Formats: sequence, C-alpha cells, structure tokens
Amino acid sequence: MRLNIFGLGYVGSVTSVCLASIGHDVLGVEVVEEKAKALNEGRLPLFEPSLGDLYKAVFTGEDGSFRAVTELPSATAAPADASIVCVGTPSSAGGEVDLSQLIETSKAIGKYLRGATHMHHVIFRSTVPPGTTEEVLIPLLEAESGKKRGKDFHACFYPEFLREGQAVRDFFNPSMNLVGALDEASVPLIEAIFKVDKKAAATDVRVAEMIKYANNSFHALKVAFANEMGTLASAYGVDSQELMRLFASDTQLNLSPYYLRPGFAFGGSCLPKELRSVSALAIRKNIRVPLLESIMLSNEEHIRRVISLIQAQATDKAKTRVGFFGASFKPNTDDTRESPVVKVIERLISGPSYREPVGISAYVHESVGRKLRGMFGDRVELASSPDDLLRTAHIVVLGPKKLDDETHERLARFPGPVIDLKWHDVPESVRTNPLYREIC
Ligand SMILES: NC(=O)c1ccc[n+]([C@@H]2O[C@H](COP(=O)([O-])OP(=O)(O)OC[C@H]3O[C@@H](n4cnc5c(N)ncnc54)[C@H](O)[C@@H]3O)[C@@H](O)[C@H]2O)c1
Repeated sequence: MRLNIFGLGYVGSVTSVCLASIGHDVLGVEVVEEKAKALNEGRLPLFEPSLGDLYKAVFTGEDGSFRAVTELPSATAAPADASIVCVGTPSSAGGEVDLSQLIETSKAIGKYLRGATHMHHVIFRSTVPPGTTEEVLIPLLEAESGKKRGKDFHACFYPEFLREGQAVRDFFNPSMNLVGALDEASVPLIEAIFKVDKKAAATDVRVAEMIKYANNSFHALKVAFANEMGTLASAYGVDSQELMRLFASDTQLNLSPYYLRPGFAFGGSCLPKELRSVSALAIRKNIRVPLLESIMLSNEEHIRRVISLIQAQATDKAKTRVGFFGASFKPNTDDTRESPVVKVIERLISGPSYREPVGISAYVHESVGRKLRGMFGDRVELASSPDDLLRTAHIVVLGPKKLDDETHERLARFPGPVIDLKWHDVPESVRTNPLYREIC
C-alpha cells in the first residue's frame, strides 16, 4: 500500500522503516530538513537497535521503498491509501499537552484530502488527551478539506505501544492492538497495513486515546513502587531483588486484574494498617517513601468526594435522609473495620464539614446492623428490607450489599439521587435513571 507517515522522530522512523520493510511504499513527511536529508542519504537520524539493519534493506530497495520529504505533495502527485500521524505531543509549560504539531499536520492532511479523488484513511498515533481526535483533529480535517469523515474519508485513533530500545520487536508484537474506530473500514485497513501478531480490536476512540495515559501512569507507578519498596527492604537488610521477584510471581492478586476495577475507597483490617506500618518503618530508617505515603491520602479523597456528592444532592439538609445499602468494608463480609462507608456515615452524622446533619438509614446484614448500632446508636435507622429503605430515603447509596432484581427495578424508578459506589454491576434500567450517579 502507499502510505504517508508524518513525523520522523522515534515513532515515525520506526513506523516508516518497519512498514517499508514489509513491502509498503512509504513517503515520510518531516519538517526538520536534516532528518529528512539523513534518511534520504541512507542514515538513520536516531539510534534504535536493529532499526539500522532493517533500514539498509529498505534503502537499497531490497524491501519495500521509503523516501522522506519536508512537505506533503498534493494528492495527485502522491496518491496514498493512508496517512499515519506520529508527530510529537510534548508538554507545554503548564504541563498541558501541546497539540500544535498535530494541528499543523491535520491542516496539511486536510489540504491533501481536498485534492484526493480516492478514498483515504487518516490514522492518528500520537498520544493525545481523550476527545482530541473527535473534537479537534477530525473537525480540522473536515474544515480544510471541505469533506466529511465517514463519507469522503475515514479516520481513527490507533495508539502506539512501542518502547524505545526494543521498538522494532514491539512494533510487530505490540502489547495491545487497539483501534479507536469510528468507521467500519478502520480495523480491516489497520490489519492490512500493520500485519502485527495480535488481531486488532475496535474500541471507543476516547478509550483508545486514554489507554496510553492509563498504561504509562501504571508503568511509572510500578517503577516508583518497586523503587520505594526496594529501598525500604534494603534498609532492613531484606534482599530487595528476591522480595520483588516473588512479589511479581503472584499473578493471582499482585499482577492481575484484581484491585484494578474503578470504584470506591479501600478499607478493612489489613490495607490501611499495613500502609501505616510501612510509613512507620520508613520514618524509623529516615527514608522518604512519598508514593506509599500518598496512598492513604488518595483513598481519603474518594471518601471526601462521596460526601461532597451526597451534600451536593441534599437540597434540604435538615429533612434529607440518606439510605445506604451495606456498610461493611467490601462485599461478602460483615467486617466494618476501617470501612469507607462507615467513614462516610460518620462524617454525614457528625463531621465538621457537615454542620446540619442528615438522617441516615441502612439496609445491612444483621451482624453489620449490630455494629452500626454500637457505633452510632439510634442515629442510624436500620431498615428491615430494601423496600423499607427506599420508602424513607431521599438519597440512596449503593454500597457493598448486593441487590436483587426487584430492588433494581425500584431503583430504576427511584425519584431521588442514586449514588453507585460501583461494587456491583447494576442493570441498564438503573443506570438510565436520570438521577443515577456513579463514583467513577
Ligand atoms: N517515543 C516513544 O517511545 C513513544 C511510544 C508510543 C507513543 N509515543 C507518542 O508518539 C508521538 C511521537 O513520539 P516521538 O517520540 O516519535 O516524538 P519525536 O519528537 O521524536 O518526533 C516527532 C517528529 O515530528 C516532527 N514534526 C513536527 N511537526 C511536524 C509536522 N507538522 N509535519 C511533519 N513532521 C513534524 C518533529 O520534527 C519530530 O521529528 C508522541 O505523541 C508520543 O507521545 C511515543
């Protein structure tokens, strides 16, 4: 296929060379003249293991073909099946993403599309904040070309997962092969161009954009975690390599989807206690572990957010009654130690941020009820059934207690706010209640 590739930095060079090496006819577009010149003279402007050898074969015409230009020729001079955009998205001074390279590139592709008589596909690969493709880039393509996406051209967001240092291997065997697709043609075209080992899966464009931020934040988090844990371990004479090797060998809980479902705060008898111990161990050895110390603060923020959400929904505070489904620290237990739901109840009843207390009801397991009675006396009214709770509550909080179909049906029609802490899936009928809010 004939491909235009924009930006011949790390990602663009690897993309160009790899795609040319599998037989495509590649035109690289790079604004920095020296980079284009170097490539046209057979020199790579950067070091990346095994890319040089691959480029030699491409440059000598043994595999595919590649040439670099500093400006995109017209569609008639260089008709192509797709444009692949790999320009930079650096941080601006304030930390926001600087989209200027992408904006310029989209305008150039828009002009190209104006003169195109064939179907063209625009594939954005640069990492961008969610919404950028649909709200900024496609409108620019449409404005500059006078054409309509979906009818006159196609566009998608196709995140890049390569790591510098093993970019060629990652390019053909990425950890994920996801296409943020708007047009049906995108997935088959991506498969035909990239021919990577994994089948391409279509997802929402914003999910495809956001996944790079989730992945890279998590990679950074893992490095910081291993470094802090390793430092702490060494300070206590513990073999840090052995510790983390064993840690990483647990794929049931540690390196697994477990604990990675967005929802409400953690609690219970172990996690908060152990985190406090870790902080104390660090203090004793005069070691700073800012990541580990920030975890309780992060957890606290989720508790605070739920309280704010309830406060914001309580129009007449003195008359408002908030009904909780469950109060244990997680589902399937009656343990209420350090339960985040109990913390919410406690602060709604007496917290300084909430001077006019609201009424609290709870539908909980009998033994949880006894504990609530012990903690709050008659300030928490115990409902005898889900119906009993829904009859008196103005705001409902879906906590750790699993609900039956009948209760879901009633919640779908509940006339007040329904705040879901996301421990359980709820049916679509509940989610479409206009007053339904999920914590995340
Ligand atoms: N580097 C990585 O490992 C990696 C991995 C995955 C994704 N990404 C993302 O891919 C994108 C590119 O990353 P990179 O590291 O290759 O960046 P880079 O800065 O190395 O390369 C960008 C290139 O685009 C060129 N350019 C700028 N404006 C242009 C224009 N209007 N037309 C043509 N060329 C233009 C620049 O001169 C530069 O050579 C970024 O969004 C980055 O976040 C990078």
